Amino acid sequence: MMPQDANIAGNVFGGTLLKMVDEIAYVTGTKHARTNIVTASLDKMTFLSPVHVGDFVTVKAKVNAVWRSSMEIGVRVEAEDPRIGGSRHTGSSYVTLVALDQDGRPSEVPELILEGPDDERRNREACGRRARRLEEKAADKTPLPGE
Ligand SMILES: CC(C)(COP(=O)(O)OP(=O)(O)OC[C@H]1O[C@@H](n2cnc3c(N)ncnc32)[C@H](O)[C@@H]1OP(=O)(O)O)[C@@H](O)C(=O)NCCC(=O)NCCS
Repeated sequence: MMPQDANIAGNVFGGTLLKMVDEIAYVTGTKHARTNIVTASLDKMTFLSPVHVGDFVTVKAKVNAVWRSSMEIGVRVEAEDPRIGGSRHTGSSYVTLVALDQDGRPSEVPELILEGPDDERRNREACGRRARRLEEKAADKTPLPGE
């Protein structure tokens, strides 16, 4: 992390990490879908411990589940103080991305091959989160500015 990523006390902005989360999810989703994709939603992210200027940050991502046109990518952020080593978990989130065809309409994504019990567990949990997300979307009747 560089000085431009942080406030004047040297703490990295949450937005800097969120951008990395969105970008890694985009790359991971694109490698699966091999088409244009957009972020539909990003689940709540709690910042578990601070990240500082000079830390090495590793962002890991995995396709947890795919449905018709959407995919859930699980993202985990870890930071390492180079003087100490090791890594600490600083936050995780789940990003839903939607594949689009050439006309910008949602299009089918390839099937996901689950390899072992961890993949199966992640897939099961992702299905539960999707159900909650879609319920929340349906329930959100908050008018937009100008409505
Ligand atoms: C994402 C987007 C394409 C969805 O369009 P839509 O008209 O809601 O399309 P649909 O209702 O057909 O839904 C398409 C898929 O998105 C999923 N989806 C839509 N809104 C979602 C949300 N808020 N959270 C999770 N999934 C969502 C649907 O479940 C559906 O998935 P499925 O095909 O796998 O079942 C559209 O809202 C969009 O273009 N948003 C802007 C995306 C963008 O620009 N992102 C960058 C940041 S601004």
